[in-house]
Amino acid sequence: MKNVPNVLKIRDIIYETPSVKTFIFDWDMKINGIPKPGEFVMVWNFKNEKPMAVSFIDKFNNKIGITVKNVGEFTDDIHKLSIGDKLGIRGFYGNGFNTDLTDKKILAIGAGVGMGPIKAFALDSILKNLDLDILIAAVTKEELLFVDDLKNKGFNVSTCTNDGTCGFKGYATDKAIDLLKNNNYDEVIVCGPEGMMIEIFDLFEKHNINGQYSMERYMKCAIGICGQCCVDNTGWRICVEGPVFSSEDLKKINEFGKYKRDAKGTKKHY
Ligand SMILES: Cc1cc2nc3c(=O)[nH]c(=O)nc-3n(C[C@H](O)[C@H](O)[C@H](O)COP(=O)(O)OP(=O)(O)OC[C@H]3O[C@@H](n4cnc5c(N)ncnc54)[C@H](O)[C@@H]3O)c2cc1C
Ligand code: FES
Repeated sequence: MKNVPNVLKIRDIIYETPSVKTFIFDWDMKINGIPKPGEFVMVWNFKNEKPMAVSFIDKFNNKIGITVKNVGEFTDDIHKLSIGDKLGIRGFYGNGFNTDLTDKKILAIGAGVGMGPIKAFALDSILKNLDLDILIAAVTKEELLFVDDLKNKGFNVSTCTNDGTCGFKGYATDKAIDLLKNNNYDEVIVCGPEGMMIEIFDLFEKHNINGQYSMERYMKCAIGICGQCCVDNTGWRICVEGPVFSSEDLKKINEFGKYKRDAKGTKKHY
């Protein structure tokens, strides 16, 4: 019943930043399966349905979470909900990150709410004993996500903010240049605005470091039939072949960093 929304009660709400909340649900892993970091669900508020990455996966206690930034009508409605209110959760969907990275030194970079799937990757990396550093970027200090939580879990966490209110003053790319001077990374895991991802992609290509990049495109069905999320020129569906692409695959997606399509299919240039 993966493609039918599971109507679930919100079990907990975590106030992460002024604009971001995490919503926790019971999720019977035996019945519904175990999501992988980087996979996403379709969230139904009984009026509309939108994609959200899974940010929290606790397979021992049968819980999952989504981390939602309030940016418009749908996400504002979600933010108004309380513990005990219900949402429909359909999925999970997509390919997720490749976490088979034993013996590699990994840098994960999350900007803004892009930290959602990065958090799921980080939690999974503890179980897999991966060697992971994390760079968290945001516009300003109060919008940085999961910093204390990930530090308390033992990760080497760097931060950067556009306004310099916490950590390095500048963009994720500038801080990544700094980190590359002192570390020999084998792999970079990235999620955030596409303008940031293309800069990170160019930087890590120069260093010959493979990456996994989580892309967003407007989604409707999320099961690969409507064609809404197809990208030029490969025709890959972000909801099925993505949302995560390796550096090699990303090179084949001509529109990466240039444009995306809105709900009507009209190109919107960055
Ligand atoms: C694979 C994937 C994972 C995502 N994970 C998260 C997440 O973990 N947390 C989070 O806060 N947001 C996530 N998003 C983005 C989220 O779906 C949009 O922010 C949300 O749909 C905005 O809806 P709105 O009505 O509040 O705002 P609107 O004003 O309607 O939209 C604001 C922007 O959100 C994007 N958007 C709107 N509708 C859709 C849609 N149906 N599909 C894709 N993008 C849309 C568009 O870029 C739009 O310009 C993800 C998107 C994708 C594709
Ligand atoms: S959203 Fe329909 S094919 Fe991807």
